[in-house]
Amino acid sequence: MQNSPTYHPLIDPVAQELKSDLERGIKQDELTQKYLTKKGLFNHLADQMKQLSIEERKSFGQKLNQFKTDLELAIQQTHTSDAKQSGSQFDYSIPGQQLNIARLHPITQAIEEITQIFAQLGFVRVRYPEVDWDYYVFESLNMPPEHPARDEWETFFIDTPDRSTNVAYDVNQPQRRHPSLVGGGKQVLTTHTSNGQVREMERVGGKPPIRMINIARCYRRQQDATHTQMFHQFEGLVVDRGINIQHLKGTLDFFAQKFYGPGITSRIRPFHFRFTEPSFEVDFSCHICAGTGQVNGDKCKFCKSGWHEVGGAGMVHPNVLKAGGIDPEQYTGFAFGWGVERTYTLRPGLSIDDIRLLYSNDLRFLTQF
Ligand code: FA5
Repeated sequence: MQNSPTYHPLIDPVAQELKSDLERGIKQDELTQKYLTKKGLFNHLADQMKQLSIEERKSFGQKLNQFKTDLELAIQQTHTSDAKQSGSQFDYSIPGQQLNIARLHPITQAIEEITQIFAQLGFVRVRYPEVDWDYYVFESLNMPPEHPARDEWETFFIDTPDRSTNVAYDVNQPQRRHPSLVGGGKQVLTTHTSNGQVREMERVGGKPPIRMINIARCYRRQQDATHTQMFHQFEGLVVDRGINIQHLKGTLDFFAQKFYGPGITSRIRPFHFRFTEPSFEVDFSCHICAGTGQVNGDKCKFCKSGWHEVGGAGMVHPNVLKAGGIDPEQYTGFAFGWGVERTYTLRPGLSIDDIRLLYSNDLRFLTQF
């Protein structure tokens, strides 16, 4: 800004006022408001042009333009000095503002980790429908219509018409009731990821090898500390020539050591599923008592027996291979299906005794992961 305003007798008082405002350290916002807005002093000056004669207008216009350039520059420069001033007064001891950074849900993290562990053994992750035909969830898995084993799955049915026609069920020809032929029966919310077994066999056109890992949401009418209505399972399926129980056991031990840590082993106990023969329940040794069930002479409070049960497994039943178009005389396979939530909450260092906490949307819990 010029020291002594010499623009024009009409402009000079305003220039003088600006000079004193700058000396008093008026802030940039206020100066902009006072001089440069629609009703500001500069527009007021420009309005005065109308009162001047034609001859006077030219030189006034030139001076007004010059004043405007100086005015804008002077106001702009106050920004730098404002910043410098506030910089010098900055209090570094004031705590910063914590930003809320989103993160992946612990179960999403677990699914990612499980996928990576099985990828090391050559398992490929696949996804199949969450709303599926009765055929894939039950019937193709050696559970004929009305079979009592279905009751264990506490199923949610979808309110759509039953599309099946009256083709008699035949264990040796389960494909006769395939959805593409007779409609697939009712639709259900998948109760387990085993619905992916026959779908995967169909995907490879009945031609093994198969090494799939199917991780998906499942639904059952259950709700307590160890059960939720929506939960996740991961299902492994391997089919090839010469596959036997040792391959299954080796896979379980590999997973146990990668997911829970060295020294953790798996155990298989006889059980019954319609779609595997023989069938097993799978346990992992407890990391607190190292599978002994005892801590300092007392019963281990975490496992009570030395082992934690996580899910089921077995050798794929010949009828299931047949449903998938695979010849059981030439090929064998193993399958396993476990709860992601259950598997995850047994991890060393976590003490989550109620899996419903995972879905409570409580940020005090979720932000710890
Ligand atoms: C099955 O679902 C079988 N499909 C597993 C299988 C696959 C066996 C392949 C053989 C071959 P089960 O109903 O036991 O089995 O469930 C397996 C696991 O899913 C359970 O051990 C538990 O970890 C988990 N799970 C089952 N229901 C729930 C639920 N409502 N909430 C949370 N986790 C559940």
